[in-house]
Amino acid sequence: MLLSDLMREGRASLSALYPAEEARSMVEMICGDLLGTRPYTAVVEPGFQVTEEGAAAVRAALARLAAGEPVQYVLGYAEFAGRRFRVGPGVLIPRPETEQLCRLARERAESFSHPVRVLDLCTGSGCIAWTLALDLPGARVTGVDISDEALSYARSQPLAVPGMEIPLFLKGDVRADLPFPEASFDLLLSNPPYVCQSERMQMRPNVLEHEPPLALFVPDDDPLLFYRALARQAKRLLSPEGLGLVEINAALGPDTERLFRDAGFARTWLLRDFSDRDRFVIFQKNAAAAASWPVPEK
Ligand SMILES: C[S@@+](CC[C@H](N)C(=O)[O-])C[C@H]1O[C@@H](n2cnc3c(N)ncnc32)[C@H](O)[C@@H]1O
Repeated sequence: MLLSDLMREGRASLSALYPAEEARSMVEMICGDLLGTRPYTAVVEPGFQVTEEGAAAVRAALARLAAGEPVQYVLGYAEFAGRRFRVGPGVLIPRPETEQLCRLARERAESFSHPVRVLDLCTGSGCIAWTLALDLPGARVTGVDISDEALSYARSQPLAVPGMEIPLFLKGDVRADLPFPEASFDLLLSNPPYVCQSERMQMRPNVLEHEPPLALFVPDDDPLLFYRALARQAKRLLSPEGLGLVEINAALGPDTERLFRDAGFARTWLLRDFSDRDRFVIFQKNAAAAASWPVPEK
């Protein structure tokens, strides 16, 4: 059949669920991935034919999209910080805000004179851990998650390059004791679950129905429970000049920053994301070391 007909059929099948532009871009992505076409192929080659098998594969993918499955799960990968990460049901799809967290960490890491030791708690797909391991030559990166499914994605990302230190991924509960010696990390990062149950109403059905609740939600009556655990881990595991960087719920910026200050961190910063929402808290153990960390203040 003609590619242009298949694409038209695809857009129509998604029209009940997605705005026209989003439906168009999803159809282009699916055709690009399964048929090797470009978004403009049907225009510049109006006679482009698709085989029976090709059309069947595209239709099967579109049926998953029409059932509300996120496009990244259907494709089997998500773009993050310029790389492709394997994702699928059972692991959170990396978000663009988290790329900003990696950028902040990378800038800070350059100030260390030794290869930086990084701990990524609640690692999920391993997007933070792999990004820093690839971007910071010599960095020794460890990722921890409680979910076996998430860990199987993190461990099997096809991103290793010759000579790099492959990140180590371990199963663990951030609310319990972790088996690392005191002061063994220079940077501690985390994007833990932080969405309140009461915020479900504002979320899209394809997130609610398909992404793992374990990765997303915290109880309304204790929304900062993971940050308390992270503060406790960071106090023990960060080196004296170490720095913690966490992604947070935009509705709880000042409360989350206060939690780290009250936990005894000498300096804390609350930073905004590209949508100008409170999104990151950075904390440092040692006030004297802070002079060498010119983090932009809000
Ligand atoms: C918001 S996702 C973040 C995933 C990844 N770091 C990212 O930015 O895309 C939170 C992750 O925390 C993990 N998690 C939930 N409870 C945990 C716990 N008690 N200890 C360790 N990991 C936990 C989930 O399995 C999930 O992978």
